[in-house]
Amino acid sequence: MAILFSYAGGDADFWRAQMEERVPGQEFRVFPDTGDPGDIEFALVWLHPEGDLKNYPNLKAILSLGAGVEHVLRDPDLPEGVPIVRLVDDILAQDMALHVVHWVIHYHRNYHVYGGDQGNKHWQRLRFPDTAERRVGILGMGELGTEAARHVRDLGFAVAGWSRTPKTVEGVESFHGPDGLMPFLRRTDILASLLPLTGATENLLDKEKFAAMPEGAYLINLSRGAILVDEDLLAALDSGAIAGAALDVFRTEPLPPNDPYWSHPKVAVTPHAAGPTNDRSAARKVAENINRVLAGESPHPVLDMEQRY
Ligand code: NDP
Ligand code: OXD
Repeated sequence: MAILFSYAGGDADFWRAQMEERVPGQEFRVFPDTGDPGDIEFALVWLHPEGDLKNYPNLKAILSLGAGVEHVLRDPDLPEGVPIVRLVDDILAQDMALHVVHWVIHYHRNYHVYGGDQGNKHWQRLRFPDTAERRVGILGMGELGTEAARHVRDLGFAVAGWSRTPKTVEGVESFHGPDGLMPFLRRTDILASLLPLTGATENLLDKEKFAAMPEGAYLINLSRGAILVDEDLLAALDSGAIAGAALDVFRTEPLPPNDPYWSHPKVAVTPHAAGPTNDRSAARKVAENINRVLAGESPHPVLDMEQRY
């Protein structure tokens, strides 16, 4: 029986060695060289071609090689009853949290202004509030959002999180559900999105939401580009309603050369680099889940098909 590996640009040799060591007895096949489709029991995927996964009649689990899963769910022809396993990894959570910490400090301490001042040889020292007065808001309090909230809280910032269901995280104020969103945004000076892309979160951040935030608030988006309306963000940046945006993810990736974000003076672009999958720790997690399934246990965590995340 065999594992199918489908990760364009991924290190297939590394994954082969890891799987051979950790899941002995499973052959490792790199897409599109699948061999007999009946042999494939596990599919390890990132941006796999739509419509293909239904071709493996003995598939026992689909394991995402990224934390987001909408790249699997966009396939309208997924095999029924095959669990989709999310990638949850402490190292990834730490990397994502550090990305949030970086940009929170960057905006909090006005480093974005000094960047511009240097070009103009302009020497000015700016004041900044105490950390306890700077209100950071984390959209999405799941695996990654919770870790980011804890990191920022530990630096002394006033942190709140918004999620679908209420949360209890020490020192982090919890807002939840549609009714909690506007009060959460009204108290947020620096907003970081760690929401998955679903029908309910697509285009969530629009002109109404940007207008609800304090004048001159900042945005850090490291979840998915489509959770915000680009034209509304650009308008909010131009009017000063939003003073700066650090964008790691975009509707179209790679970001096209003619995209206005590239040259916008208030936008910092990073190339979906906030939390790259760490091959070593991810391979360990994936192998653990495969071994669970082979032992007749449930893999963890399985995607909730109703919520779509
Ligand atoms: P989780 O599924 O663990 O957490 C999702 C969170 O979002 C939960 O707190 C959930 O609420 C909340 N949520 C979902 N839908 C809604 C809604 N409609 N209203 C309010 N809250 C909602 O995801 P992860 O933390 O593992 O990952 C988050 C995202 O980060 C990924 O989906 C991916 O898009 C992105 N990502 C980006 C990377 C990068 O390099 N830029 C790397 C890795 C991931 P509740 O807890 O109540 O269910
Ligand atoms: C993602 C990832 O989901 O890189 O964006 O893991």
